[in-house]
Amino acid sequence: MNNMTTTTDTTTATKTTVLEAKGVTMRFGGLTAVKGVDLQVNSGEIVGLIGPNGAGKTTFFNCLTGLYVPTEGSVSYKGTVLPPKPHKVTEAGIARTFQNIRLFHNMTVLENVLVGRHTRTKEGLWSALLRGPGFKKAEAASEARAMELLEFIGLENKAQHLAKNLPYGEQRKLEIARALASDPGLILLDEPTAGMNPQETRAAEELIFAIRDMGIAVLVIEHDMRFIFNLCDRVACLVQGEKLIEGTASEVQGDERVIAAYLGEPFEGDPGAADDAAVEAAEAAADAAAPAEAEPEAETETEAETAADAEVEAEAAAEVEADAAETDAEPEAEADADGDTDAPADTDSDSTTSTTSTEGEAK
Ligand SMILES: Nc1ncnc2c1ncn2[C@@H]1O[C@H](COP(=O)(O)OP(=O)(O)OP(=O)(O)O)[C@@H](O)[C@H]1O
Ligand SMILES: [Mg+2]
Repeated sequence: MNNMTTTTDTTTATKTTVLEAKGVTMRFGGLTAVKGVDLQVNSGEIVGLIGPNGAGKTTFFNCLTGLYVPTEGSVSYKGTVLPPKPHKVTEAGIARTFQNIRLFHNMTVLENVLVGRHTRTKEGLWSALLRGPGFKKAEAASEARAMELLEFIGLENKAQHLAKNLPYGEQRKLEIARALASDPGLILLDEPTAGMNPQETRAAEELIFAIRDMGIAVLVIEHDMRFIFNLCDRVACLVQGEKLIEGTASEVQGDERVIAAYLGEPFEGDPGAADDAAVEAAEAAADAAAPAEAEPEAETETEAETAADAEVEAEAAAEVEADAAETDAEPEAEADADGDTDAPADTDSDSTTSTTSTEGEAK
């Protein structure tokens, strides 16, 4: 994890804004997956993005990287607004990894890193893939850089292995190397330690610190709170598409709203509180209505009568649910949990990612 030629930029250098997302909103039909999110990442920083499943974290990454065109809002990199096109975003200096690993499984480890380098070589992606004459010339330099990156992540001894034969944790690291190959100024990591054992997770932590020390800002999504709070200078928490809180690790760690969001308990100002309250009210109404109808003479209630009550209650509850389902129907119908695969993406530009993602989302 050394040997890098990149300069270090951490300590006293004045911080500049690397990423600025302003009012990013993403709607899918009636579902608003991301609502007016502002987020800034500065040079030298590691920023964490947390939130329960379905909070909109990956969708937000997809908006930042041009995989989705946000319904509203803007994304700037080092002061320039980015067009929502993946290859433009990569060219500008933002690289990413995916929650569901996306590698060329039948290519070698080294080749996967070389493909990640195509934005920084004149040859371009197709030449890299087809290994044409132009590519061969640039190959030596690119290979040296790719090997350097493999050393950095500790996979230099597996350069000639097929990506598909790597254990899961190493595939995640290889994705990071591929992302680094585009010489980014900012790297977005979507659940980099999902599926890793504790030892691998600790190593990943070190790797991310080292990436930061190379002068690359980091924005990382993770569910492993110990990992996040150890690693990050700042943490933002998304709940139901909205940024609930942003602060230092210790500010966010102790915040009762964050704890409640993870435990699924409502709290004051909860973006989902209105929905929860409506469901609760409907349930209470059903509870109140059912016994009144079913118990004309309540005093000598037999077992059979109790069972009848339960049945009526169940029916009433089912009715309320059916009503609720009807009103919610249209957004649900369009929702698709894996936001990555059917993205309105620019397929040629994101083709490093387009061939492989058949596996499910790793949690
Ligand atoms: N392409 C899409 N079409 C419709 N709905 C989508 C799409 N992508 C994501 N969603 C919905 O947006 C919401 C947020 O999903 P997202 O994957 O961003 O959550 P997340 O915070 O990354 O969750 P997790 O921690 O489980 O990865 C979910 O309700 C999801 O079903
Ligand atoms: Mg996600």
